[in-house]
Amino acid sequence: MSINKLEFNQLNRVLDQHTGIRLSSNKSDIMASRLSSRLRATRCASYNKYYQLIISPDGKHELDIFIDKMTTHETYFFREQAQFEFMYDYFRQKKSRNVPIRAWSAASSTGEEAYSIAMILDDLFYNGNWSVTGTDISPTAVEMAKEACFALSTVQKIPKKYRRAYCLKGTGKNEGTFTVNKAIRHHCNFNVDNLLKLRTVDYSFDIIFLRNVLIYFDETKQKKIVDNIIHRLNHGGLLFLGHSESLRKKRLGIELIQPCIYKKVRL
Ligand SMILES: C[S@@+](CC[C@H](N)C(=O)[O-])C[C@H]1O[C@@H](n2cnc3c(N)ncnc32)[C@H](O)[C@@H]1O
Repeated sequence: MSINKLEFNQLNRVLDQHTGIRLSSNKSDIMASRLSSRLRATRCASYNKYYQLIISPDGKHELDIFIDKMTTHETYFFREQAQFEFMYDYFRQKKSRNVPIRAWSAASSTGEEAYSIAMILDDLFYNGNWSVTGTDISPTAVEMAKEACFALSTVQKIPKKYRRAYCLKGTGKNEGTFTVNKAIRHHCNFNVDNLLKLRTVDYSFDIIFLRNVLIYFDETKQKKIVDNIIHRLNHGGLLFLGHSESLRKKRLGIELIQPCIYKKVRL
């Protein structure tokens, strides 16, 4: 079914209101194809009917699915591995093993990034006082991150020593999948949160991964997100961006220490 200009604009507005993402007008075919199965599932005869559904009080669940369908969740374990190696070396030298350490995978998608950070932290601070928070706008992705049930075909991305130490192969109805062990999961928590309207928390982080998400926003929103993020980073803490992302303007108190890796310093 094709989508007309009005329908595209209506749905694009809902997407913007809830995620801050606004698609350019040449993306209407992409929107139509991502939503076509939802029109069938919800028996909506047009994109306008689907729009009416997701803005209605009864459409809350479908709105979550809409957000999930319209956001890109590509991720994998130890994506951009050099960054994880850098993080390992940096904290091995710097941190006393008794000081609590908090990491945040902001835009955690289905959890692979957060669990990769967790494996490094457990390796560094075995049994220690560390935690990883993962947040994402997509409730579906957050549920998958909590479940931690991953396709076995993706396990190869995890370095062998971590695979052996932390990964458990599924059996029976979980054949073809793996999970991460309780020692890791116990330190990880996942919540729905919007980078543009973050919930207030009374703590800040030593490590923040904000990777492969800024690219979806215009410059004004990128600035707002980065301001929110830097505000939550401890002095001496590290901010990791995706390899195609950077802090466009120099910022006071933030130093580039490696490509796409920044450190918060005291002024
Ligand atoms: C491509 S994935 C990146 C996952 C992971 N950080 C990585 O680099 O592998 C982008 C994620 O950003 C999330 N996202 C998009 N807009 C968001 C927003 N306003 N607040 C929080 N998360 C958002 C999407 O739901 C998606 O899971």
